Amino acid sequence: MSNKVKAAIIGLGWAGCEHLKGYAENPLSEVVAVCDMDQERANQVAQENDVPQIFTDHRQLLEQEDIAVVSIGLPNFLHAPVTIDALNAGKHVLCEKPPARNAEEAIAMAEAADKNGKTLMYALVLRFAGDAQALRKMVDDGELGQVYFGKAGYVRRRGIPIGAGGWFVDKSRSGGGGLIDIGVHALDRCWWLMGAPKPVSVLGATFSHFRHLVPEDVKYDVDDSAFAQIRFENGATLMLEATWALNLPGGGYIQIAGTKAGGKIDPLTIYKDDQDLTPEVTGDNPYRAEVNHFIDCVLNGKTPISSAEQGVTLMKMLDAIYASSDKMGEVRIT
Ligand SMILES: NC(=O)c1ccc[n+]([C@@H]2O[C@H](COP(=O)([O-])OP(=O)(O)OC[C@H]3O[C@@H](n4cnc5c(N)ncnc54)[C@H](O)[C@@H]3O)[C@@H](O)[C@H]2O)c1
Repeated sequence: MSNKVKAAIIGLGWAGCEHLKGYAENPLSEVVAVCDMDQERANQVAQENDVPQIFTDHRQLLEQEDIAVVSIGLPNFLHAPVTIDALNAGKHVLCEKPPARNAEEAIAMAEAADKNGKTLMYALVLRFAGDAQALRKMVDDGELGQVYFGKAGYVRRRGIPIGAGGWFVDKSRSGGGGLIDIGVHALDRCWWLMGAPKPVSVLGATFSHFRHLVPEDVKYDVDDSAFAQIRFENGATLMLEATWALNLPGGGYIQIAGTKAGGKIDPLTIYKDDQDLTPEVTGDNPYRAEVNHFIDCVLNGKTPISSAEQGVTLMKMLDAIYASSDKMGEVRIT
């Protein structure tokens, strides 16, 4: 029997299948089981990837003792319950973004990881891109000085996903709209590049103006645009915009500014006095690098860079943006 780490994927949409490729390509791991409530989908993915065990109920998959790590590629409302089931079954978990629907769920997930002594990592894939890794290293090495400003945008002019059964646009199943779906990527990457400072207050506004773009019979009670300013304990601030639909040009950006230099990614550019520098960037496909990092953490007892604890803080920031929008005022984060 091979001594590779045995992995299983629960939820076989696009995201789950990226995890599958990551384990299959890592020489230290192999995929031994897949699970999807859609039997046909599970059969098809298993057949295409030579995976021996197929399940439609995640609880049966979790009973298999040979499985050591589980990836969760399920709709957001299932992240917390299935992650907690997996941790309680003694598995290490790589869970898709957003960590959960809210901070309360993320706290329960972190507690389950702690209680069972297992690794819980969030698939915040954009941290694993070569340019983001290089910029974060420069921040850690002090090359930017004190980082005091960040701005992040993930702006779609038109691009509202619906998902299987309309879960993306139903707040009870997604936790929110564009903010929690794609804003989480922009916020997380910018915050992490700034050194993941402790957030203390948030001013946010969210809007829902594009219901007409979604079929009438689909429940739609989520934000399609969100704008926020977050303040951190170290005095730094971050500006965020995240939209699924906006009457402005779409695009994405992440920029951070420090006392010695500033930087942006995609492509990596460093702004120093009057010079624009473009350091060389190396790195794997971020989806592969993410799984490789997870396997390294599991095998070597390391804490993932996108840890259970950081997932809680990230969800607290997202919760605070929604709360600030509701109350039309600043919300403190403790
Ligand atoms: N990191 C990324 O770039 C990225 C990209 C897309 C999606 N995601 C995240 O991945 C997750 C899944 O998104 P998606 O677009 O793949 O969704 P999806 O709706 O396309 O796929 C989800 C799959 O889960 C299955 N499923 C649903 N309930 C189940 C259950 N109880 N048991 C077993 N299977 C079940 C569905 O049949 C479906 O095949 C979301 O949290 C999303 O935010 C991340």
